[in-house]
Amino acid sequence: MNQSVLIVGAGPSGTCHFLRRLRSFLTGIPFDFKGLMLALALLRNGISVRIITQEANFVVGQRGAGVMPRSLEIYKFMGLLPEILAMARPIPAMQLLSSPQGEAPIKTVNLNKELSDTPFYPYINPLILGQDRHEGFLRKHLLEEYNVTVELATKLVYLEQHPDYVTAQILKTVDGKEVTETATFEWLVGADGAHSTVRKQLGIPFRGVTREEQILLIGDIQVKKGLGDRNIWPLWGNNWLEKMAAMRPYEIDGDDRFTFMVGGSEIDHSKAVSSREEFIRTFYEISGRTDIEFGELVWMGLWRPNIRMADRFGEGRVFIVGDAAHVHTPAGGQGMNSGIQDSFNLAWKLALVQKGISSASILDSYTKERLPVIDRVLNNTTTAFDSWTKDGNNGQWSGWDFNVRQLGINYQGSPIVLDERYMGEVTHSDPYRSGDDGLLRGGDRAPEAPGLISVNDITVTQSLFDIFKPTHHTVLAFADPSDNQGELLKVPGACANNVVQVVTIYPQSTPVTSVSIAKPTHHAFVDAEGYAYKHYNITGPGATIYIIRPDGYIGAYTQSEGGVVDYFEKLFA
Ligand SMILES: *[C@@H]1O[C@H](CO)[C@@H](O)[C@H](O)[C@H]1NC(C)=O
Ligand SMILES: *[C@@H]1O[C@H](CO)[C@@H](O)[C@H](O)[C@H]1NC(C)=O
Ligand SMILES: *[C@@H]1O[C@H](CO)[C@@H](O)[C@H](O)[C@H]1NC(C)=O
Ligand SMILES: *[C@@H]1O[C@H](CO)[C@@H](O)[C@H](O)[C@H]1NC(C)=O
Repeated sequence: MNQSVLIVGAGPSGTCHFLRRLRSFLTGIPFDFKGLMLALALLRNGISVRIITQEANFVVGQRGAGVMPRSLEIYKFMGLLPEILAMARPIPAMQLLSSPQGEAPIKTVNLNKELSDTPFYPYINPLILGQDRHEGFLRKHLLEEYNVTVELATKLVYLEQHPDYVTAQILKTVDGKEVTETATFEWLVGADGAHSTVRKQLGIPFRGVTREEQILLIGDIQVKKGLGDRNIWPLWGNNWLEKMAAMRPYEIDGDDRFTFMVGGSEIDHSKAVSSREEFIRTFYEISGRTDIEFGELVWMGLWRPNIRMADRFGEGRVFIVGDAAHVHTPAGGQGMNSGIQDSFNLAWKLALVQKGISSASILDSYTKERLPVIDRVLNNTTTAFDSWTKDGNNGQWSGWDFNVRQLGINYQGSPIVLDERYMGEVTHSDPYRSGDDGLLRGGDRAPEAPGLISVNDITVTQSLFDIFKPTHHTVLAFADPSDNQGELLKVPGACANNVVQVVTIYPQSTPVTSVSIAKPTHHAFVDAEGYAYKHYNITGPGATIYIIRPDGYIGAYTQSEGGVVDYFEKLFA
């Protein structure tokens, strides 16, 4: 048998039929790097992967660069957050200017309101990190931690599903010669972009629209003189549907490159994209800023809004993640982040099934959980994009007005989530809510709680996000706060296998030295600052258990030992 999972990356989007003469400039996402995230999450779980991409080279340029708070939390669970934070930077404020630029800016807008981090939301502001660096960072970890590399110039030709495996025919270019290979895998995942071969082979429709009239020229270029402030993102244009140009500085200190976006019905896109000089001429015409001196052009291409989603995210042993499953406008930077969440949602389920712990039926929950969220993303990003293009420069627009941070995303309606307070009730009303509406139910994001003192070693203070693992369910057993004996629910030993960790949390008032760890508890903490009991709304009477899934969502809420058994029996059938 080969590796367990074949992850297929994207090829160029060469099959677009519109604007034929521009075809060679159309830009796809050469490797949909959400596949890299999936690979890392699977490898963390001990599942082997092979990753192929049709592209001959890795992506250059910044493209989708917004990193949302929920993605930062996922990186925290993956142990990668410190490095991401060291590379990323706050999103610059957008400075709206007339075309050609007048004396004063029309308005300066923060795309997202700047908020303060809290013990509940420890990383609350979106950041930027160029796609090329972000992708390179994930590739570096795949190589350094697992000796896994992405196979370039390697294309999936077709796939065939069988009850126990998937056959893939792969075409590889080695020293200019094409070599065909047929290999079998237990699972196959398409992270192969909007034009996904995998999705097409499954025959899954990709419904929605392509807005050919809203074509944009995008790319990266060095700016030698004239644009200095790295905290400002200038955007010129009186009516963005007619004419606009924007220049966002790279997030890298001392780097003089910018990511640009130029478009509108009055722009001759084919001419502008034909050479560096034509691009610069177009830019000068829109902005009037002929004092800006450009250096090297890193890359450029054409892009237009594609607003589509698949009606299911997999079938049998084959799944799709990221752009292969859904594409939307860049409003609020939701695309890349939604793809990361697809991957993180799928990875732990696939790992449990591959290990023989869960039955394949739990994989249905991937579509059931993610589809309503994506449905909402499409609606809200389309609305936001339209109001941005329409009201952008008349002073009406004041930043994204939907929940771009993705902290409220929840799976309350999932078939594998259990909350004994709301059994049989349809709670799944808003898959994308703000997350601070004062409710905490099964299916929600598990809140952070800092200031937990280890019972084993009182010099150790941790937070729940230090404890959660992408490889384990975490059974959080809270003692009854209304009972000074600290009565606990027993976690049945059979539930505590090697993919489950049991963590006991004692109330703030408990003397650390008075408690001892009894099996099957792996860790015990005193909630020294009271955040865990507060954020999980543990008021008593009675002891409570929250079961946190490997992806950081609440799998179950229960106040009985039977509830714990029920949750795991369903999951580990
Ligand atoms: C890493 O992988 C390469 C190629 O697949 C192999 O030749 C090499 O021996 C591996 N290195 C280690 C340390 O396993
Ligand atoms: C978004 O959803 C609302 C409510 O369902 C609907 O009225 C609106 O037309 C949708 N907008 C888009 C752009 O899909
Ligand atoms: C987001 O989408 C939902 C429907 O999917 C709609 O009811 C809501 O009004 C939208 N919000 C914004 C800000 O567009
Ligand atoms: C906390 O729990 C109580 C009942 O135990 C409930 O009435 C209240 O709404 C809950 N609050 C939150 C924020 O979930």
